[in-house]
Amino acid sequence: MSKILAIETSCDETGAAVYDTDKGIISNALFSQIDLHKKYGGVVPEIASRSHLEKINLIIQKALDHAKLKLDDIETIAVVNNPGLPGSLLVGVCFAKALAACKNKKIIGINHLEAHIFSACLENSIPFPFLCLTASGGHTAIYLVKDWGIYTCVVPAIDDAAGEAFDKVAKLIDLPYPGGPEIEKLSTSVNYEDFFKYPRSKSKALNFSFSGLKTAVLYDLAKRGAYDLKNKNFLKKDDQLFKAQVASSLLNAIADIFVNKLEQTYKKYPEVKAITFVGGVACNKFIRNKIETFCKKINLNFFFPSPQYCTDNAAMAAFVANYKAQQNKFDDLTLDIL
Ligand code: KG4
Ligand code: ZN
Repeated sequence: MSKILAIETSCDETGAAVYDTDKGIISNALFSQIDLHKKYGGVVPEIASRSHLEKINLIIQKALDHAKLKLDDIETIAVVNNPGLPGSLLVGVCFAKALAACKNKKIIGINHLEAHIFSACLENSIPFPFLCLTASGGHTAIYLVKDWGIYTCVVPAIDDAAGEAFDKVAKLIDLPYPGGPEIEKLSTSVNYEDFFKYPRSKSKALNFSFSGLKTAVLYDLAKRGAYDLKNKNFLKKDDQLFKAQVASSLLNAIADIFVNKLEQTYKKYPEVKAITFVGGVACNKFIRNKIETFCKKINLNFFFPSPQYCTDNAAMAAFVANYKAQQNKFDDLTLDIL
């Protein structure tokens, strides 16, 4: 029986989790910086790294306390070392290396995207190979996942991520950051109807592109007299119904783009046995339902993590660290951010 302490500081969440090789995840502590960044409408890197530094001891202690363990009970320290905000990653990596050096622990660097890719496996037994749609603030892609740690990106994003499209359109129509949950809330109030039918890319290319969608929404707002392009000013700040209509139309467009790309990808890889949907955007029930309906149509099982494992967290990093440890893939104290 061995225990892994994982640390996540790649963006704006300070996370620590403990994985027990017999019991699985036994604690998962998190401090979210959302309130610190809200007034800037997005993550401010300098504020993020300072906040990680402030909270990291506390969060690690919390994870150990919840697991009823002391640092001496931990055999391996895992830490997310790429990709992410450099200043934020450095806080976690320096802390992990100091712990490993002082307490003579093994150390493993974890890729944040790999952690997202396997996050649906935390609570489900998923057959390989499967397709994983990952959608968050920084990344959107479909991966072909063949085994533990063996995966290929088969549909990359060529510009903005889907979460970014939610966040940027939300900002355009004067909704708070992060935009995704706000867009979902407003869409519910108008029954998820597709009012404005924003364009869906007809491209057969296996990639994602969301910057065009954001621009299309902007020009559609201007056409409807809701946006002053010259002064960059949204003119219907108090029109809740209109904002809900924009939100719901955007949600429909993004859901359709996802299903469409999954359909194209499945045609190319018909050997897959399941589809998973992970990352912050996978909290969205409407999109999940659309993908689930598609999966039923093609007779594939569909999996997604529970919300605490969709948005950034250290549990998914601890899970990856466990199979890496089993494969004897450890790092050493030269570990750096990438
Ligand atoms: O995975 P995550 O916590 O952080 C990154 O690695 O980026 O994802 C955050 C993103 C944000 O863009 C946020 O707007 C989006 O996930 N998000 C949602 C929902 N909840 C969070 N998007 C759509 N619907 C949601 N319910
Ligand atoms: Zn993430």
